[in-house]
Amino acid sequence: MCGIVGYSGSRPAAPVLVNGLKRLEYRGYDSSGIAVEEGAQLKSICRTGRISELERSLPDFHLTGSCGIGHTRWATHGAPSEANAHPHLSCEGDIAIVHNGIIENHAELRSVLEKRGHRFTSQTDSEVIVHLIEDAYARLAFQTSEDDDMEDALGKREERTPASEVKAGEPSLLLQALSMATSMLIGSWAICAISSHEPGIIACARKESPLVIGHGADGEHVASDVTALQGVVPQVCVLGDGQFADVASHSFAVFSSVEERLISAKGEMMRLDWNAEVAERGRFADFMLKEIYEQPRVIRDTLEGRLNHGAITISELSLTHEELNLVDRVVIIACGTSYHAALVAKNLIEGWSRIPCEVEVASEFRYRDPIITPSTLVVAVSQSGETADTLAAIRDARIKGAKVFGITNVIGSPVARESDGVIYTKANKEIAVASTKSFTGQLVSLTLLALLLGQAKGRLKQAQVRMLFNELANTAEQAEAILKEASAIDEAAVSFKDSRSALFIGRGMGAAVAEEGALKLKEVSYLHAEAYPAGEMKHGPIALIEPGFPVIAVATQSPTYDKVLSNIQEAKTRGAMVVAVATEGDEGIGQFADHVIFIPRVRDAFSPITAIIPLQLLARKIALLRGCNIDQPRNLAKSVTVE
Ligand code: M6R
Repeated sequence: MCGIVGYSGSRPAAPVLVNGLKRLEYRGYDSSGIAVEEGAQLKSICRTGRISELERSLPDFHLTGSCGIGHTRWATHGAPSEANAHPHLSCEGDIAIVHNGIIENHAELRSVLEKRGHRFTSQTDSEVIVHLIEDAYARLAFQTSEDDDMEDALGKREERTPASEVKAGEPSLLLQALSMATSMLIGSWAICAISSHEPGIIACARKESPLVIGHGADGEHVASDVTALQGVVPQVCVLGDGQFADVASHSFAVFSSVEERLISAKGEMMRLDWNAEVAERGRFADFMLKEIYEQPRVIRDTLEGRLNHGAITISELSLTHEELNLVDRVVIIACGTSYHAALVAKNLIEGWSRIPCEVEVASEFRYRDPIITPSTLVVAVSQSGETADTLAAIRDARIKGAKVFGITNVIGSPVARESDGVIYTKANKEIAVASTKSFTGQLVSLTLLALLLGQAKGRLKQAQVRMLFNELANTAEQAEAILKEASAIDEAAVSFKDSRSALFIGRGMGAAVAEEGALKLKEVSYLHAEAYPAGEMKHGPIALIEPGFPVIAVATQSPTYDKVLSNIQEAKTRGAMVVAVATEGDEGIGQFADHVIFIPRVRDAFSPITAIIPLQLLARKIALLRGCNIDQPRNLAKSVTVE
């Protein structure tokens, strides 16, 4: 949520910053801004709306400075407006900051700072940071004291001593001021600051929200996500939690805070393997469609190397066979689409290993003191690997003594780093805000975990594991077959694009697929959708049904198929317009459904992997017909780094 970039080098900074922001736009897209050092001044431009609005205004400003910072915003505190867009400037306009995260004690700090004479121009929580830095900087560089109010402090600037030069191994004054400012903050942050007194320096700080620094031929780059720097720099330094950095035009230095002093530290380097195709839409109209079509590849890549001599191998789990055997409970924590993948996994884990498995939304888990013991295996599922609630839940589980296993798509992400073991979903960068291919990667990874637990508990014999694995691998081809024939999906989309609401139903595995199908529809088409276990429909939601009301039923072959069919008939009798996802060869279903989308026959355990594809395509098509922005739906952001 929110993306930040910085650049200090030999090129004009403004276009570099805007390009970086464009790549981070999926993190937030309600407003954006940059601040650039121009001679002895800072110049900033902020615009509401997409980065393209900011880009359009650049030529009017003739910015040539080669050091600056930028921000793309997802509003938390304060409406999306130019005043609330970052960068925020100090009262004197000599310091600018961008921030990603939340400052929880901003109200208290604001009132203290206002009493000291600071003038605020926004409603954001972030603005306190720049005023705190301004105060600290005045003390460090201009010998003001904490007792001076702002006017006194500004007066002393007239007789200021020039800011000291940055010396190797020594933090800049700006970084020291930033460190003093962060010592007053409660919350989470990735911050970049620049000051007209120390040209070419970007001071950086990180707590919880990610920040990376990359050394390029043209200068140093900073970003809240490697996506902005892929193809720009060969490797990045991942700033550690609580670390600080001074970034200058051709070098950077990392520091840790020790007893309020900044001491040189080492940052962790990470190579960026860049595949330019990932960031291109290619022949596809949007990234969501491209990513839906990548799912067969994701299945194959996620499974590669996982079956060895008839046994599932997940060495990254870092648990021995004996330790796995001692696991007596599994708790899966996740949010959104990742949570729906977890709902599927519960059935598989309990079915194959008979280990009780609970699935919980991370934002609930973290606040309810859950019962977790050292023999509980906690599995955290997160595409981005930086969802704030999931991270907090991981920390809580580890404090309680559990082993935490992360399932994520992003190499080196906080979930990967804070878990005891991690499995990567091999979806590659997912750019559309609505998750599709990462859901498939999660389903496949969780299925592998369920097979591993079944194997460890001795409930699945080698021959069964091999057979199940091969069937799982076949879903790649089955997904390809579904993607080749989408005409029934398009017809169904046309018939309910003007509806106001829709009900998704299913049982067992189908219930989880229905949940994910409803979420996809809501996210991209803004059509209200609700998912219900089909058997629950008559306990309330059936009252919604009137002639023409869309009911989307997951009715693939399963032990509860007949029951789902009865539920479809109950809806049909009341005039519902039924769209059914059914198994090829099901000749009877056509008499109860207005539209049938057939998918190949697969084992019930693997049906979510294939059954979700038509629902992803359906949601996208409806959104397209309703004129919605497919890749960047309103109000959403790809990484949810605030609670
Ligand atoms: O990155 P995560 O998997 O932790 O994100 C969780 C949810 O925010 C995410 O799945 C969200 O629901 C997607 N936009 C769904 O398409």
